[in-house]
Amino acid sequence: MTVLEELAPWRDAVDQALARYIADHNDGVGQQIPAPLQQALAHALLAPGKRLRPLVCLATADALAPASTPTTGAIPLAALPAATALELIHTYSLVHDDLPALDNDTLRRGRPTLHVAFSEATAILAGDALLTDAFAILALAPTAAAAQVRELALAAGSVGMVAGQLADLEAAGKPTSVEALRAIHDKKTGRLFAAAAALGALAVGASDKRDLAWAWGAATGFAFQVQDDLLDVEADVEAAGKARGRDLQHDKATYVRLLGTSGARALALQAADDAVALAKQLVPGDDSLLVKLARFAADRRF
Ligand code: IPE
Ligand code: IPE
Ligand code: MG
Ligand code: MG
Ligand code: MG
Repeated sequence: MTVLEELAPWRDAVDQALARYIADHNDGVGQQIPAPLQQALAHALLAPGKRLRPLVCLATADALAPASTPTTGAIPLAALPAATALELIHTYSLVHDDLPALDNDTLRRGRPTLHVAFSEATAILAGDALLTDAFAILALAPTAAAAQVRELALAAGSVGMVAGQLADLEAAGKPTSVEALRAIHDKKTGRLFAAAAALGALAVGASDKRDLAWAWGAATGFAFQVQDDLLDVEADVEAAGKARGRDLQHDKATYVRLLGTSGARALALQAADDAVALAKQLVPGDDSLLVKLARFAADRRF
């Protein structure tokens, strides 16, 4: 059983929170998203994604929750706003990543990309909505809401994912060092995973564990992106729900281009080992879920 299958009840709870957002903005005041935007958001958000960033957040919260609030097995509800906000930000990043001006992709999560299914303007605006609404949801978190908002904004914005996405575009077709590519991958993908783990800690009042959780998430996210580079050459398109060979066509800076497939695979495994070591530091006792998530990031097939 994969860790995703093991965590199916948590994924279902995240999916329900995403559906509530589409239906009533999840803000408890009954405001409706306009129907055409609702349809576009549902197309991107309710498609079958792995929900990995929410799971990293929830698993970290579960592992760090005080012993007086045992949540093992049950979803750590205090982290659900963060988990939901993370998936909105991630989905916005995919919608914009696929635009013609960026990676120009036509298949995502097994569906036509949003700009293909609807229009480029709709895809831009749906991304804008997801990015903005994520913070409205996160601001209602029961614990440390302001700290969580700042954590997620720093990870996603101009010093985080957006910076990484620009560097990714600029590095295409150019010689890139292993170190420079590490910085790109850490920003474009690692930061959101790092924030996911940090939000899990903050959500259950474990702010003393924030730094270590962040480091665990960052290492897991780096491993995840190295494996994503590998999947661009070896994934099954149906399982992955996105096209293969696009990095090659764009001459993107990837670890496969720099190190070949066996070098990239060795790096993914090393990165997962680093993440596992951090997980064991973070939760010396019961770390099994965090360890499984770190391993899954590097050996997943989709
Ligand atoms: C794809 O992320 C984008 C990257 C950062 C590589 P995922 O592989 O997590 O995409 P979904 O959410 O499962 O569709
Ligand atoms: C995407 O990286 C990182 C994001 C911030 C979306 P990729 O461009 O490699 O992701 P895929 O391969 O399109 O999913
Ligand atoms: Mg990209
Ligand atoms: Mg892409
Ligand atoms: Mg990719």
